[in-house]
Amino acid sequence: MALYSEKVMDHFRNPRNVGVIENADGVGEVGNPVCGDIMKIYLKINDEQIIEDVKFETFGCGSAIASSSMATELIMGKPVSEALQLTNKAVTEALDGLPAHKLHCSVLAEEAIKSAVKNYYDNNGIEYDPKDFPDPEVESCHMH
Ligand code: FES
Repeated sequence: MALYSEKVMDHFRNPRNVGVIENADGVGEVGNPVCGDIMKIYLKINDEQIIEDVKFETFGCGSAIASSSMATELIMGKPVSEALQLTNKAVTEALDGLPAHKLHCSVLAEEAIKSAVKNYYDNNGIEYDPKDFPDPEVESCHMH
């Protein structure tokens, strides 16, 4: 069996929504201290709290790029509250799986989105439940 699914290869080769949103309503950046990979998410959010646009920059491995690309597709056009529910498991499933030692790369995508939403809430004085934003706990990358 191939190590990476067709979808992972597709999103790695042709990542969707790469770039920067100037004047974004929420920006989140997370990094994995061990492998050094960094992921940044930009959100454009309208008055109805719908994500109108999302872009990402990922300085990281192929799985991290594919995960962020898929994650942006999954939250585009969705309410912020729904984006907050996005788990790395959902991202991995949408990619038809990742090798076990690459699962932590999809965790970066989940955390980057959460951190961007938190930034949006903070910027706009919107109250939230701190339980929705646990301290990032990125597993270390043992293998690349
Ligand atoms: Fe570190 Fe993928 S995010 S190896």
